[in-house]
Amino acid sequence: MALKNLRDLYSECMECTKCPLHEGRNSVVFGEGNLRADIMFVGEGPGKDEDLQGRPFVGRAGQLLDKLMAEVGLKREEVYIANIVKCRPPGNRVPTDEEAEACLPYLRNQVAIIAPKIIVCLGATAMKYIIDRKAKITQIRGNIIERKGVYLIPTFHPAAILRDTSKIELTRQDFKKIVELYHRLRGE
Ligand code: URA
Repeated sequence: MALKNLRDLYSECMECTKCPLHEGRNSVVFGEGNLRADIMFVGEGPGKDEDLQGRPFVGRAGQLLDKLMAEVGLKREEVYIANIVKCRPPGNRVPTDEEAEACLPYLRNQVAIIAPKIIVCLGATAMKYIIDRKAKITQIRGNIIERKGVYLIPTFHPAAILRDTSKIELTRQDFKKIVELYHRLRGE
């Protein structure tokens, strides 16, 4: 997919039938936020609430993401939030490789257009497709990985924290690291 402007990309995505996930969707969850964001958060894919509202991270996991951001002084309006797949996998299962591969060109274009300095991979699926297919989130979370001048930071997915609340302290440390890097890159 050649580089497009965001409006064309959005229109194309709204009509997308490139993988079977389009069959069960109520909404395409394209992503949203500040188009000049220095930080992009990437999750796995829409859940039930996101599929109904057409917006990323608006359910329980989203509320926890908002809280983690607020604790380090980040506002939703200053970041961009997207997902690996834009349509809800049935029953919130993990997207298949075929579904992720079909959808990734949208995310790659979003990254190219918005040009964030930091990409936070929320959970194993975002880490897999953005950083390393074979890595384990428990081993690489909190690392800052520089690639072509962009800093990639994997951390736990908020839904994983809701399932296992002992993950929250490490995630808080990761969010502090993210925001320190953010301020440093902005020369603050
Ligand atoms: N989980 C995700 O990975 N993305 C969302 O948008 C919501 C929940």
